[in-house]
Amino acid sequence: MTDVITFHIDGKEISAKPEQTILQAAALSGVYIPHLCAYKGLVPWGACRICLVKVNGRFQPACTQPVVAGALVENDTPELNEIRRALVDMLYVEGNHICPSCEASGNCELQALAYRLGILAPRYPYMFPKRGLDMSHPDVMLDHNRCIKCARCVRASRDIDGKHVFDFVGRGLGQRIAFDAEQGLAGTSVSAEDKAMSVCPVGALMNKRVGFAVPVGSRLYDRHPIGSAIESSK
Ligand code: SF4
Ligand code: FES
Repeated sequence: MTDVITFHIDGKEISAKPEQTILQAAALSGVYIPHLCAYKGLVPWGACRICLVKVNGRFQPACTQPVVAGALVENDTPELNEIRRALVDMLYVEGNHICPSCEASGNCELQALAYRLGILAPRYPYMFPKRGLDMSHPDVMLDHNRCIKCARCVRASRDIDGKHVFDFVGRGLGQRIAFDAEQGLAGTSVSAEDKAMSVCPVGALMNKRVGFAVPVGSRLYDRHPIGSAIESSK
């Protein structure tokens, strides 16, 4: 078995190990494939579909699709970016993402993706769901209105923190993050230092008392677009 295979993304030759996914191999070669639920060090989840690429002409999520020797992968094409734009648009209207009043503004991957994809206004009607907040814990909080159900917190808490504090309940529009305690976050073993508290791509799961430590305008994606070389090395 060869240790290294090669394939192409948008005409660029990529070297990869057979066990890698297309997203992992692309990242190591400096090729940005937009993604939201994927996170370095977490098992792939394949939920958001933002990482959709075409492999030899067929749609595949890059975060779960293993590399294939000799494959021709399309990534940065008008067709794929239009699909990603529609997906991001739907995430925006499905929740309540009020960027000007969100502490994550400027650090939010959803907002940064919208900028990168050129989204200026919603194309679908807002759903304005009525969802709650959990402020019961002294150090951390969860705003269900901003959760995009990426499951990063679920995987990080389960696989890295070894706590499995979070998981999903419900289905479809009723799906939401739930905890391993009936009294909410306060009854869980989550702590502000947990990996789960640093992986949320939006402003849903956040530590308390750190708000606006970095001023708006000086935050990560205020300075560097998502997918830029500087941002990717964070
Ligand atoms: S709380 Fe954040 S990390 Fe957890 S599922 Fe929602 S958006 Fe993802
Ligand atoms: S990043 Fe691949 S499906 Fe979400």
